[in-house]
Amino acid sequence: MQTNPLIDGLRIEATPGPTTLVIFGASGDLTRRKLLPALYNLSRGNRLPARFAVIGVARSRFDDDEFRKQFHESLREFEDVDAERDEVAASLATRIFYMPGELDDPGLYQRLAAKLAEIDGAEGVLYYLAIPPTVYANVVEHLGASGLSVEPAQGWRRIIAEKPFGTDLASARELNRLIHRHFDEAQVFRIDHYLGKETVQNLLVFRFANGMFEPIWNRRYIDHVQITAAETVGVERRASYYEGAGALRDMVQNHLLQLMTLVAMEPPTAFTAESVRDRKMDALVSVQPLVDPEGPNVVRAQYREGWVDGADVIGYRAEPGVAPSSVTETYAALRVQLDSWRWAGVPFFLRTGKRLPKRTTEIAIQFRRPPLEIFRRVSQSPVASNLLVVNVQPDEGITIRFEAKLPGTRMQLSPVMMNFRYGSTFGGEVPEAYQTLLLDAMLGDPTLFARHDFVESSWALITPVHESWSANAASEIPAYEAGEWGPAEADALIGRDGRRWRTL
Ligand SMILES: NC(=O)c1ccc[n+]([C@@H]2O[C@H](COP(=O)([O-])OP(=O)(O)OC[C@H]3O[C@@H](n4cnc5c(N)ncnc54)[C@H](OP(=O)(O)O)[C@@H]3O)[C@@H](O)[C@H]2O)c1
Repeated sequence: MQTNPLIDGLRIEATPGPTTLVIFGASGDLTRRKLLPALYNLSRGNRLPARFAVIGVARSRFDDDEFRKQFHESLREFEDVDAERDEVAASLATRIFYMPGELDDPGLYQRLAAKLAEIDGAEGVLYYLAIPPTVYANVVEHLGASGLSVEPAQGWRRIIAEKPFGTDLASARELNRLIHRHFDEAQVFRIDHYLGKETVQNLLVFRFANGMFEPIWNRRYIDHVQITAAETVGVERRASYYEGAGALRDMVQNHLLQLMTLVAMEPPTAFTAESVRDRKMDALVSVQPLVDPEGPNVVRAQYREGWVDGADVIGYRAEPGVAPSSVTETYAALRVQLDSWRWAGVPFFLRTGKRLPKRTTEIAIQFRRPPLEIFRRVSQSPVASNLLVVNVQPDEGITIRFEAKLPGTRMQLSPVMMNFRYGSTFGGEVPEAYQTLLLDAMLGDPTLFARHDFVESSWALITPVHESWSANAASEIPAYEAGEWGPAEADALIGRDGRRWRTL
């Protein structure tokens, strides 16, 4: 039989069965900025099923035409696509519908059930909670009460929950309990969009598809690990959310702990959702309590006015919507200790902040020095230890630093970099995280989603830190100048172990 390599290539790319995506919060920012462009790109790449539909739900009194207009505007703004002339957009728009309603009105769910019954492609239904977390419970309860969470004999029902998933351990547990009353864990997809990033997935490939890194991926060869997620922006227009959250809840509980467990996990026995997530859980539960009477393991701080990205910027307390006496942290640094055979004695340092000098997310693995410095007498500069950096964003890639001999008659050493860049190596477009995650949820693959126990264990780590901060709510919070790499207290935290933050 003749084979067509192109068709054979396509065969391994699974396409979901008939699907209807119901977006609760369809008039909101996330839908406009991320979800609609992601659907367009999936359609352009032929990754959506032939029988596919979207139903947008929110209180705004749109109709189908108005929502389609929103779709066109979102493509114009975020994809630079003229949707009126683009065939893919035009075809997708005919499969987009809108249903206005109050989320606590049982009538809305009856109308939704009726719409699903008449729509082509509703064998599989994916509910997306793109709404404020305060109304998650409402929607889940109503979906359950109206029978919309029950999987039919031929088809499936799944639900995607956005971040934040809870605000502390008790609320995350409560939300899990509520969701599990109506949906099995296999139907639940908790988004952490960092997990959809190409470089983050590549971390698994890098570690477990290569034989040369895993043997040195342990306490014998690694001195410490630094994970940084730095933003140059301030709180922007998110003060109402951010004031109640802060850097620890907004970034550390989810994104940074996810990255940390991908670095720290043992090899899974197979690339299956449960095996990968089990190994990540093992790593997470080996983390020692962050509140430690021996000394602080967490530093918080808040930006004051300064200079970032070539402009003067105001301090956090002067931002619109922020209380003048706010003690919400815009920066957090942590020293994390994993009590496992692999990592005993190897500190992981995590830091994140707003109004830092550079927008970057990276994981830096700092190796130990060579056991014997045999070039000490001939080279003036000390030998720099090896470093492996995974650039998560914006410049996705991997860099390895090693020592090389400077050309010349003398024996002089210098650190050099070996770079792999996604863009230049593979060319083409790297899919946006939301494309990957929407597609995985439609396919029923939860590997890149947070499991209920991970969410609860990460809150179990973070919540005592918040409680200790709340107990000292009246106290001042350390400050850092906007445009600087955090407060002196963070330097002291890492300095206590004789290490320094990387300058990026
Ligand atoms: N935007 C992002 O980039 C981003 C990133 C990460 C996570 N998230 C998460 O995604 C979710 C949505 O965020 P967003 O930025 O899109 O928020 P948003 O712009 O405020 O939109 C919220 C949406 O929910 C609807 N809504 C709000 N309250 C409602 C209610 N009581 N009944 C019915 N509909 C209601 C709003 O529409 P109506 O007013 O028309 O009802 C709107 O469509 C949040 O959980 C957020 O934490 C967002």
